[in-house]
Amino acid sequence: MNKIGILTSGGDAPGMNAGIRAITRTAINNGLEVYGIKRGYQGLIAGDISPLKTTDVSNIIQRGGTILKTARSEAFRTTAGRATAFEQVKKHGIEGLVLIGGDGTFRGATLFSEEHNIPVLGIPGTIDNDINGTDFTIGFDTALKTAVDAIDKVRDTAEAHDRIFLIEVMGRDAGHLALFSGISCGAEHIFIPELKEDMDQIIQDISNNRARKKMTNIIIVAEGDEFGGANKLDEYLNEKIPELDTRVTILGHIQRGGTPTPNDRILASRLGYHAVIELLAGRSQEMLGIKNNQVHYTPFAQCNRHDDDIAKDWREMAVVLSK
Ligand code: F6P
Repeated sequence: MNKIGILTSGGDAPGMNAGIRAITRTAINNGLEVYGIKRGYQGLIAGDISPLKTTDVSNIIQRGGTILKTARSEAFRTTAGRATAFEQVKKHGIEGLVLIGGDGTFRGATLFSEEHNIPVLGIPGTIDNDINGTDFTIGFDTALKTAVDAIDKVRDTAEAHDRIFLIEVMGRDAGHLALFSGISCGAEHIFIPELKEDMDQIIQDISNNRARKKMTNIIIVAEGDEFGGANKLDEYLNEKIPELDTRVTILGHIQRGGTPTPNDRILASRLGYHAVIELLAGRSQEMLGIKNNQVHYTPFAQCNRHDDDIAKDWREMAVVLSK
C-alpha cells in the first residue's frame, strides 16, 4: 500500500482534527502518501481530493470542527454514487481509506468496501456516543463538558427565580449526553430515549418538591426522548400542573463546537495512529475503539449501539442521587 485517503463524515465532533493529524503523520511516518478528501463521501464522489503533508496538520490538534469539512451524502447511499466514488479512488491511486464518523458513516463504508475491493477502517467521531465497540466516541467528552458548563449556569438563574428549567441536549436517538450531563449537574429528572418515564411519578415528585419548598428543578431532556424534546415536555407538564413557572433552554449546536478536551485529543490520537498501523497490517471493514483502555476492533456491521441496560442502571443511580 502506497497511498491512503482520509475523510470525516456525518456530524462534526471536537477531536476529529486530532484524528486527521494522527492518521496523516502515522501514515507519512510509514512511508505512505496521504490524501485528504473534503466533505466526506460527497467530496469522494466529486473528486475533491488533495494531498496532505505533515505541515498541513500542524496546529490543528486543539481546534474543533474538521479541516476536511464534513457532510451527510445522499448520493453515497446509492450503488451508482458509490461506483462514482470508487472511480475517484482509482483515479487518485488511493489503496486504503481511514474514516472518522458515526454509524451512518460505517454503514456506507461496509457497502463501499464490499462492492469495491478496497480496505477501509474507521474511528468513531460523534458527540452522541452511540457507537458499539468503544467506551467513548471522539467528541463526546467535549460536548459533555460544554453541556455541563451551560447547565451549571442555567441552574444559577433557576435557583435565583425558583424556576423549573427543561434543558434539551443533543444525541439524536441516544441518551448518553443527557444521562451523563444530568448526572454531572445533579439534575432532578433525566429524559432519555432508551427508557420510558413513569409520568405520574414525575408529576408527584415535582408536586412533592414544591410542597417542601424545593422550587428549582433541572430537567434534562434528550432531543430524541419519547416526548420529542423539551418544548413538548414543557407543554405536557404545564397542562398537568398549571401553576409551574418553567423555562426551556435548547443547547443545540454549541455542543458540537469548541476546543476538544485532552481526553478527546488523546482518544483521537490513539485511534488514528492504530488505524494506520492496522490498515497496513491488512485489517478492513472494522472500527477501532477503546474498551477498558485497550484498542478494540468491531466489524462495521456491529457498530450500532443498544445500551438499554446501562441506561437503566445509570438512570436509577441518577434518581437516587438527586433526591
Ligand atoms: O450526530 C450528531 C448530531 O449533533 C446529533 O446529536 C443531532 O441530532 C444531529 O447531529 C444534528 O444534525 P445536523 O447538524 O445535521 O442538524
